[in-house]
Amino acid sequence: NWTTTSVVEEQVAAIRAQVGTKRAICALSGGVDSSVAAAIVQKAIGDQLTCVYVDHGLQRKGESAQVEKDFVAATGVQLKVVDAEERFLTALAGVSDPEQKRKIIGREFIRVFEQAQAELVAEAGAEGEEVAFLVQGTLYPDIVESGGGTGTANIKSHHNVGGLPDDIEFELVEPLRQLFKDEVRMVGSELGLPDEIVHRQPFPGPGLGIRIVGEVTKERLDLLREADAIAREELTAAGLDREIWQCPVVLLADVRSVGVQGDGRTYGHPIVLRPVSSEDAMTADWTRMPYEVLARISTRITNEVADVNRVVLDVTSKPPGTIEWE
Ligand code: XMP
Repeated sequence: NWTTTSVVEEQVAAIRAQVGTKRAICALSGGVDSSVAAAIVQKAIGDQLTCVYVDHGLQRKGESAQVEKDFVAATGVQLKVVDAEERFLTALAGVSDPEQKRKIIGREFIRVFEQAQAELVAEAGAEGEEVAFLVQGTLYPDIVESGGGTGTANIKSHHNVGGLPDDIEFELVEPLRQLFKDEVRMVGSELGLPDEIVHRQPFPGPGLGIRIVGEVTKERLDLLREADAIAREELTAAGLDREIWQCPVVLLADVRSVGVQGDGRTYGHPIVLRPVSSEDAMTADWTRMPYEVLARISTRITNEVADVNRVVLDVTSKPPGTIEWE
């Protein structure tokens, strides 16, 4: 008889038995899976768990705060934040090719995480303790489908190549192994996580780095963060969050078009809205969302975001178009 309460109780007992008096670490991304996995392990072993959040500077507006404040407040988790924005931006300088961007972001992420991990191991060692466990938010579909079938698992394994170090030093703790996504959300709510975390739409690991077509710079990221925040605000206000699977907001940084704003002509960048409906992200269709909401988003973005003078709607299904632009 499946209840979220029994799942939590069972997992808490299992984690305690597995970890004993040793210590565990977990890489938090802000996503649903890692958040719920961390929350349940925290409930089981408290301060024996340390979470690491790598701030790569590629997240959306308010997302770091959500992890650093809201998640910590809801769980009491011990969190180590690594500010790595400079490092990522330097590594990405001059790079426009999507695959190269992904590789660089993945590589830097692993390096930064491994460094944080090594520091924690050393700190624990100094106190005579051992860090022996790595927490991961692996879900049931990730396991059954990692053999090469279809499903989000493949997307994950495909996209998250090198998402985390393949660490043989550590034993894995995977408290969500038996759950599907909707069950993970229920468990998250049961554990008291805020709705913004539990119902967060999918967001790619490389973040806004792959939503800027062209080179990634701080200025462009800031601009895209503003546009994305406006789109999300209006979609939420219109009650469309659950209906839309996700809505990437993309900056065409290498494109300029002529516009007219105020007293004169402008030569600015377009922003693309990519609202999609989907079951599992393997296939998707563009969401037929209300014109009034599109109009509000367009007006606000062109009024409020400097250097953007055009908003366009992506009306491509997947296939042939992927959900992300890069
Ligand atoms: P595409 O663009 O391939 O995206 O249609 C399918 C789904 O995967 C997400 N996505 C990623 N998720 N790391 C992730 O964890 C990534 O590198 C990544 N790239 C794309 C995308 O947002 C969509 O939900």
